[in-house]
Amino acid sequence: MARERPLRFPDGFLWGSAVSAHQTEGGNSNSDWWVHEQVEGTTAHEPSGIACDSYNRYAEDWALAADSGQNAIRFSIEWARIEPSPGEFSTEAIDHYREVIGAARDRGLTTFVTLHHFTNPIWFALAGGWGSGDAPEIFARYAAVVGDALGDVLDVVNTINEPSVVAIVGHLMGYHPPREQDLVLSHVVSVNLLKAHAAAAVEIRARSAATVGLPLSVSDFAAAEESPQGRRSRDYLQHWWMDVWIEALRSGWVTGLEVPDQQIPGLGGTDDFVGIQYYSCFVVGKGAEGKARASLPGTGPSREVPDWAKNSDRRTQVGWTWYPEGLGNVIEDVAQTGLPIYITENGIATADDAERITFVDLHLEQVHSAISRGRDVRGYFHWTLLDNFEWNEGYRATFGMVAIDRETMQRTPKPSLAWYGDVARANALG
Ligand code: GCO
Repeated sequence: MARERPLRFPDGFLWGSAVSAHQTEGGNSNSDWWVHEQVEGTTAHEPSGIACDSYNRYAEDWALAADSGQNAIRFSIEWARIEPSPGEFSTEAIDHYREVIGAARDRGLTTFVTLHHFTNPIWFALAGGWGSGDAPEIFARYAAVVGDALGDVLDVVNTINEPSVVAIVGHLMGYHPPREQDLVLSHVVSVNLLKAHAAAAVEIRARSAATVGLPLSVSDFAAAEESPQGRRSRDYLQHWWMDVWIEALRSGWVTGLEVPDQQIPGLGGTDDFVGIQYYSCFVVGKGAEGKARASLPGTGPSREVPDWAKNSDRRTQVGWTWYPEGLGNVIEDVAQTGLPIYITENGIATADDAERITFVDLHLEQVHSAISRGRDVRGYFHWTLLDNFEWNEGYRATFGMVAIDRETMQRTPKPSLAWYGDVARANALG
């Protein structure tokens, strides 16, 4: 039911955009993604190259965000630059990020700094990456150095972006580096990522007043076919992609994977918040049954995504459907953690900027109704500020509110930037 506008958001609500280092900085040649983009038979459409040259143009980018009316920014710092070889930390890179963070804060932007957004140093990948037992410790060492060097200027820290995507897309689907296709390995990686998150949070908190949380990739999962098999497939994927992480953040326990159930040291109600990254509903096909277990701990009651959404021809440039109601649903799921929530990503790949405005408007309406239901949602970050390197899709998927001329790197705001900035300034959806 449409509610009367304007829809006012709570005082202090954060309005931002999200970007990531590899997708915008350019020249991230010491990372595994860079290698992935170059190798024979890569799944990448094109290499990232100089991306948006934001390594040099960050001040201009933050000005675009702040001048539009936004009051926050989410970006990542690049581990491969900060720790170019094991245990050796680059003062130059750290100084650079101090300037990047400072430039955002000087513009009045609250900073959400992500420590890991998909990319790893090459040396880490070669040593076994996230499948290796010492990965959590190695990551925590990096977090400690960041805390020592930058702790005084960190507002909010996101440890690891979308750990389920790292585990599943990189280690089972074989689509992202290291392009493994191994179910058990992907579950080992899931556990290691949770351990790394918990250990990094301890290191940051010991050195900074920053709040710390984990941004999760979430979706409203649907069965392509309403049969017992179809529903079992959906439940399995939902459990593993989303429910495992929610349950781990709530209780500290990882359950129902192909590794022994276990309690993660330091995890369970310890985070300051959870990040929700929602784009679309997820229709699990008949062929996606996996190795389903008879009962799946933590899997919530089945909720049906309506057929119109599952079969919608309203597709984005990356083939996803539109389903704003799903954002309202996943806020309910994530609220089970008992933690405050930020929407750390939501957006659409489209060449039609008017469609972007409608998309964001309808999703914000869902955020507003969740808040009216009493859900503690504290901010919204639009993915993304600039048209940037969309991983394997390259530059053909345009999620940005600002276009980039790929020859000159000139930034041209789209109408959505001003529209979103007005919403932010008014702290209300008109
Ligand atoms: C992710 C990442 C972003 C993506 C965005 C659009 O969710 O994969 O956090 O880096 O670019 O989600 O796909």
